[in-house]
Amino acid sequence: MKCRTCRGPAVIDLPRHNANFCAEHFFELCRRQVTKAIDEHAMFGTDDRILVAVSGGKDSLAVWDMLVELGYRADGYYIALGIGDYSEESREITERFAAERGLALRIESLRDDHGFDVPTAAKVTGRVPCSACGLSKRHLFDRAAREGGYDVVVTGHNLDDEAAVLFGNALRWDVEYLARQTPVLEAGDGFPRKAKPLVRLSERETAAWCILRGIDYVIEECPMAAGNRHLQYKELLNALEEKSPGSKAAFYSGFLDRMSPLLADDRRRDVLHRCVHCDSPTGGESEVCAFCRLVERTRGQEAVPVEMLVKKKSRSRTSRRGD
Ligand code: AMP
Ligand code: FES
Ligand code: ZN
Ligand code: ZN
Repeated sequence: MKCRTCRGPAVIDLPRHNANFCAEHFFELCRRQVTKAIDEHAMFGTDDRILVAVSGGKDSLAVWDMLVELGYRADGYYIALGIGDYSEESREITERFAAERGLALRIESLRDDHGFDVPTAAKVTGRVPCSACGLSKRHLFDRAAREGGYDVVVTGHNLDDEAAVLFGNALRWDVEYLARQTPVLEAGDGFPRKAKPLVRLSERETAAWCILRGIDYVIEECPMAAGNRHLQYKELLNALEEKSPGSKAAFYSGFLDRMSPLLADDRRRDVLHRCVHCDSPTGGESEVCAFCRLVERTRGQEAVPVEMLVKKKSRSRTSRRGD
């Protein structure tokens, strides 16, 4: 197996590019894909202050590493979700990554700072854990960016994530979510800009980036996400990709090039007012945003151990993924 660029020994094969690469030229390919995504979608510039939402998984650590390497001003932001050992381990890994590189990392804890955790919220609301988890993450990312004066929030969503979300949204023809499924969402109405620089890299590629760069990351998936629909869509798309390499990227990029522009008018936000508790922009009838309502509902509740929810097969409503 020889590197396509230098003919030296290759360390990775990429069927989608019909080529193999040595570590150095694989890194070059990753940097090129990320730079292309940033430029093509005008995500941010070197003067912008970037807040990278880091989970301790391969994608968000890889994107943080790449942005710093490419000369961007990027600080990290980690939310302790209270999902047992999984959260403990992710926090340690994220803290170590930042400390070893002298990078700024802000840590926020759902339990310590807001009085609840994801398992307790799931029990109280009777919905799947990912529902309260997603709501809390979106809310806190926005708030942290606003309070910290950041220009943009970056997440580690990769090509596999975006293709699976697209697949799910298209299965339901959810036009509102399809319209907002762009690699960058502009700031507006009190929301910060959001960007996904890894949309041109697959999960396997971000994992290889971390392994070859010696970055330690949490390998396990969230124990509460096991068996959810998003993972099922990923498996379906992987089966397709195996038979015809490149189909995942073609599905997603075809959507961005040909479908997404037609949905521009549906991209508006339905913002009515500011939350009376936290000043976050919020829609709907209530004076209080959905996150502050969740804080209210979970107040004083005894913490629910993760194990109670992991084994139980949920019959409750699932969450949809919009951004
Ligand atoms: P997920 O929603 O778990 O698929 O994660 C998508 C992206 O959200 C990750 O790539 C991270 O950028 C970010 N993220 C997930 N979990 C956390 C967390 N606990 N703290 C900060 N950012 C996170
Ligand atoms: Fe949110 Fe698992 S990461 S429920
Ligand atoms: Zn090479
Ligand atoms: Zn609020």
